[in-house]
Amino acid sequence: MDFSKRSRESELMDNPEVSQQTLENVLRDINRANRILGGNRATIKALSQLVSQNPRDSYTVLDMGCGDGAMLREVVLFFRRIGKNVKCLGIDLNGNALRMAREASLDFPEITYLKKDILDSDASGLECDMLITTLTLHHFYDEEIPAILKRFGKLARIGIVINDLQRSPLAYSLFKVFSLIFIHTAMAKNDGLVSIARGFTKAELTQFSKGILGVEHKIIWQWAFRYVWIIKMNRLTRTYE
Ligand SMILES: C[S@@+](CC[C@H](N)C(=O)[O-])C[C@H]1O[C@@H](n2cnc3c(N)ncnc32)[C@H](O)[C@@H]1O
Repeated sequence: MDFSKRSRESELMDNPEVSQQTLENVLRDINRANRILGGNRATIKALSQLVSQNPRDSYTVLDMGCGDGAMLREVVLFFRRIGKNVKCLGIDLNGNALRMAREASLDFPEITYLKKDILDSDASGLECDMLITTLTLHHFYDEEIPAILKRFGKLARIGIVINDLQRSPLAYSLFKVFSLIFIHTAMAKNDGLVSIARGFTKAELTQFSKGILGVEHKIIWQWAFRYVWIIKMNRLTRTYE
């Protein structure tokens, strides 16, 4: 394996032909890994910082690449805990993932889902206070990322939280061991390794951050082999009406 640059290998789950049942099992594996390794907690912590720095009664949160909506349900539970209103929109390209998300979110009227390609340049109506994207940025090639980030930057009024994988030989080897016990599907075992090989170094994320000017960037390493990149927009959230 060459870890000096991001792999361009595709993840099997990105094939639109993958059946609902297979995708369901793969997303269940990803959710279990997130739960055990605490991946989603880091996103909630980052959101919580943005909320405390921008106190309001209600917020909107957009999740780009929401999968089965597990992250958004945690976002809603967080806002319910702190007694603030939230409206969430989950975007994903995969209709089967969205079907699962809708079924699993029956008790979460705060969330709606929309089938849309993140690469679609028409992002009208997606403006939000906070934009999150977890384990999704690595699905894109280097040459696609600057335009995606620029669009994200136009949509979010308060901030952006990007949570994604660190590319490292140690993470790759440890995932092999982890997946022997905790990952049950061959597709998630394969895609977990491909995801790490498609992950990022801090230097690469810092380089991407130079494309979004006039904002504050913070890139934090978190266990287990994640980078949480918080972008504070420093933008007025209120209109003059
Ligand atoms: C690894 S999953 C992450 C799901 C969830 N955010 C999580 O943290 O568990 C990546 C998600 O990105 C979605 N995705 C990949 N490319 C996309 C695109 N071009 N537009 C919208 N969604 C996309 C996939 O369908 C998948 O649900």
